[in-house]
Amino acid sequence: MAEEAEGVPEWARRRAEELRRLIEHHSRLYYLEDAPEITDAEFDALVAELGGLESRYPALATPDSPTRRVGGGVAPTFAPVRHPVPLLSLDNATDEEALRAFDRRVRRWLGGVEVGYVVEPKIDGLSVALEYQGGRFVRGATRGDGETGEDVTANLATIAAVPAELGGPAPERLVVRGEVFMPLASFRALNERRAEEGLPLFANPRNAAAGSVRQSDPRVTASRALDCFVYQILLAEGWPPGRPAPATQWEALALLSELGFHVNDENRKAASIDEVVELCRAFEARRDELAYQVDGLVAKVDSLAQQAELGATSHSPRWAIAFKYPAEEARTRVLAIEVSVGRTGALTPLAVLEPVRLAGTTVARASLHNEDYVRQRDVRVGDWVTVVKAGEVIPQVVAVDASRRPEGVPPWEPPRTCPVCGAEAVRIEGEAARRCVNASCPAQVRERILHWASRPAMDIDGLGARRVDELLSAGLVRDVADLYRLTVAELGALPRMAEKSAQNLVAAIQRSRERPLSRLLYALGIRYVGERAAATLARHFGHIDRIRRASRDELAAVPDVGPVIAGSVASFFAQPETDRLVERLKEAGLRMDEPAAAPAAGLLAGKTFVLTGTLSIPRSQAEARIRALGGRVTGSVSRATDYLVVGSEPGSKLARARELGVTILDEAAFRALLGEGKDDRAS
Ligand code: IVH
Repeated sequence: MAEEAEGVPEWARRRAEELRRLIEHHSRLYYLEDAPEITDAEFDALVAELGGLESRYPALATPDSPTRRVGGGVAPTFAPVRHPVPLLSLDNATDEEALRAFDRRVRRWLGGVEVGYVVEPKIDGLSVALEYQGGRFVRGATRGDGETGEDVTANLATIAAVPAELGGPAPERLVVRGEVFMPLASFRALNERRAEEGLPLFANPRNAAAGSVRQSDPRVTASRALDCFVYQILLAEGWPPGRPAPATQWEALALLSELGFHVNDENRKAASIDEVVELCRAFEARRDELAYQVDGLVAKVDSLAQQAELGATSHSPRWAIAFKYPAEEARTRVLAIEVSVGRTGALTPLAVLEPVRLAGTTVARASLHNEDYVRQRDVRVGDWVTVVKAGEVIPQVVAVDASRRPEGVPPWEPPRTCPVCGAEAVRIEGEAARRCVNASCPAQVRERILHWASRPAMDIDGLGARRVDELLSAGLVRDVADLYRLTVAELGALPRMAEKSAQNLVAAIQRSRERPLSRLLYALGIRYVGERAAATLARHFGHIDRIRRASRDELAAVPDVGPVIAGSVASFFAQPETDRLVERLKEAGLRMDEPAAAPAAGLLAGKTFVLTGTLSIPRSQAEARIRALGGRVTGSVSRATDYLVVGSEPGSKLARARELGVTILDEAAFRALLGEGKDDRAS
């Protein structure tokens, strides 16, 4: 068989086979033998990874793939949905010449006329079809094989960018196509949280988005901060009076935006293929600045009449082409497998690579996530591997080419002792990571101090990795409480530390004493206590001593605090070392309480808003202002709605709000409520 049959690279084919074997094996253990060896989350991650591979290389999907099978709640299944119009794929162009050839084909087909284009970023996510009837969201489906997808309505309904109700007069039946994606910041935060919790990581934002949508519990999808850009009207029947059907893709995008969908504001019009080429060039340079991952651009013939004339093959439309940026993927050799130790003692294997160019940078290290990841892929020192960069800070090893493995290399063995302090490294059941058990391990201390000083924690300016290393090796600090005893004289005596920097650092440390309890709790680095849980606990208890005294049950009774967080907090504060640390921090004068929420910051706290019609500012901006003041924005009017904000050409939400007696605000009243003057926008 050809090495890359149907465009599927060999590594992907092998990995898919391997994943199917693993999923098979673990389902059997789970269902038949009732003796699972991995956690549900790890199992879900295998299925999600396979799903990701299958959506990236549709030729890999088999009808009996475990991603499509009933799995008793573990591997979710969804009802099939037949798309009213096939969701086609795109032809690719990888260079300028291919783009120009596409333009020549298009113009020849149309009889030599001039053709205008729309150029849109190609978002690397999950393609979905969203159906609206009478302006209401009735069905959402994945692309599947293009003809039939999976019904993921309940999950898609949790995404804020998928409006429950359209904002404005809409066709009686409307089916649109869009891309669900996870913004890079959410992706990184999600993986950070998962790493902290010992869960397997998502390989890239696309897998994370796909895994988040293909969930049996919509609450999981809801927790995942997904977004969705809509870019195509697949079907529209019954246009409302006074709203003509769009004649161009550009008009279609404007209409979609008016109806309340998120439409990418990077989309551009191009009058000719020269402009398309220019946009592709300009865009590539800015690619890394975007908040989401883009794998290329799509050029589309603007006129919908011309699109219809051009038609499609069974695979792809003749009126569009994807301009793909070079794959951010490279092959190189593993020189060594190192193990680093994190704040909670988690050991993380890392591949040291023969340096290779990848997406504009030289890569010499790649993440291997955890020991299971290494074991599952059987990565060994000396192996040729494929590394990809998918928006993460460090690239990752995604596959091994075992056929090129040198003879006699043994499988990699995770260390049984901490590589930094030599203490025992143990793996607790149900966790993906092995941990160093020594709380005073220098590597853990270093990471704890760095976490303490980080922006969302105590925010100590100027206390980065290099400084912390200097402080540790000079023996000036052994834990975070020591920071508060540092003097300008001590710091000034360090090599490469100017008097002024010493003063600045001491001042920055002083300022951090005033951080509220929520920050302090987060900074302590208690497992499972992220920023959100820290804020919840701080608000609920008000003072650290009340948290210290709280029982596990009292903690678990706090809304949004589950048994896992409660257990972790209780055992953290039950340790004598924690007591000593908290007492020393108190002596150092750190603030131990949470100020009552400032009313100005929460002006709209607890209030629920719905927006309809067109406002003079973009809807996303209006929503952001409401959220900034503590309010919530939802897509449809219900009894729980406090305010309906009405712009010009409001939709059916207005009538519904009147029916339910919801307070209705016009734009001026809305601005007044936000505490904004009339002229804010003009200035
Ligand atoms: S147009 C018939 N526009 O790219 C129209 N696709 O390789 C075909 N994609 O499966 C799609 N952003 O998931 C189009 N602005 C965009 C897109 C986009 C992302 C994805 C889509 C499709 C894949 C094709």
